[in-house]
Amino acid sequence: GVPGDKSISHRALLLGAMAHGTTAIHGLLQGEDCRTTMAALRALGVEVAESPDGTLCVHGRGPEAWREPESVLDAGNSGTTLRLLAGVLAGRPFCSLLTGDGSLRRRPMRRIVDPLRAMGATVLGRAQGGFPPLAIGGGRLGGIAWRSPVASAQVKSAILLAGLQAAGETSVTEPLLSRDHTERMLSAFGLVPRRDGTTVTVPGGRRLTAAALTVPGDLSSAAFFLVAAAAGGPGELCVRDVGVNPTRTGLLDVLERMGAEVRRERGRVVGGEPVADLVVRGRGLRGVRVGAELIPRLIDEVPALAVAAALADGETVISGAAELRVKEVDRLSAVAEELGRMGAAIAATEDGLCIRGRAPLRGAAVSSRGDHRMAMSLAVAALFADGETVVRDVACADISFPGFARVLAETAPACGIREETAGV
Ligand code: S3P
Repeated sequence: GVPGDKSISHRALLLGAMAHGTTAIHGLLQGEDCRTTMAALRALGVEVAESPDGTLCVHGRGPEAWREPESVLDAGNSGTTLRLLAGVLAGRPFCSLLTGDGSLRRRPMRRIVDPLRAMGATVLGRAQGGFPPLAIGGGRLGGIAWRSPVASAQVKSAILLAGLQAAGETSVTEPLLSRDHTERMLSAFGLVPRRDGTTVTVPGGRRLTAAALTVPGDLSSAAFFLVAAAAGGPGELCVRDVGVNPTRTGLLDVLERMGAEVRRERGRVVGGEPVADLVVRGRGLRGVRVGAELIPRLIDEVPALAVAAALADGETVISGAAELRVKEVDRLSAVAEELGRMGAAIAATEDGLCIRGRAPLRGAAVSSRGDHRMAMSLAVAALFADGETVVRDVACADISFPGFARVLAETAPACGIREETAGV
């Protein structure tokens, strides 16, 4: 198995804190990003208790019980923490200050600041609200019908969480459907959002009731192993209990199109989220075209996909992925430059990547640039390179996958990869 889903873990904590009653969460991701959300909620007066068996209990008393924090809330590296929390805080009648690490302070915030202002919140930030730190003076909100120019679950969720506290209905329309974990989890808390195409609507002023939640394994964490197995072969790799929400499974479709065998076993629904065991068997991969319509469904998997493409026959062209330039780092430049150092024939375009597969990979000194998904993608690439690869700043993998290096070392033989390079 892989650690709990990061997106679902954040939402479980936040909705638990907005609900009435005790929300028990099993399988919460214990990575740094989610610890950040937990710490922020505690600073807002929400009681979050960890029990020795790993279950986490959020004792919610509704958003009305949240208190003005005494100091700045630090979202660390986590865009989800900052943006979703900003949505809730827009409806709270007090002042909150939100900041993050150097990477998060460079990420665009107008996409949430504009709609939250339109709902009636006062939001200040660097560059006219463009970047954190953000100062939020919340209060009475009015519902809006917002058209988001980007397909972003963080934007959608921030607006919906504000909308839950607003007068009237709030709806968000996005150009393509982004991950819908917030909508699904709201249903578990007793409020079923209305969906019409890529528009989702919630009513304001309704009480959420605490729920018992189980967090599935994170497909975005499984991705590194699925790619290693698909490119490695001939063995089979099984990752158990992975969330396979259709808004997240773009990588599985692409790996199949590249020629890998991907099977879903023991499919079931847990807390409104589809879950399955994923079995991948490597066969010779071939290059593919991945266009804009698929990007929201594999937004966090592009670096891993680039590694698969570098190991495939023929050319892979990924387009419509400009959003990657505003993730933890500019992932298009980062992946092109770092994989390039290892010998991959890869170039970043304005909105994607062009990769000519099968250029031999050689060990090199590369850097994650502090980006957890870069760290893990480079470690997987290293398994297929001749000679030793040193991934600098690999520890940031803990942000979404504590213990990644150990799991990779244990799994590599099953992927048909030389064991002696597994620990690199
Ligand atoms: C996330 C949504 C995605 C994703 C991020 C987590 C979420 O960001 O890249 O890792 O939990 O809502 P965007 O929605 O901004 O694309």
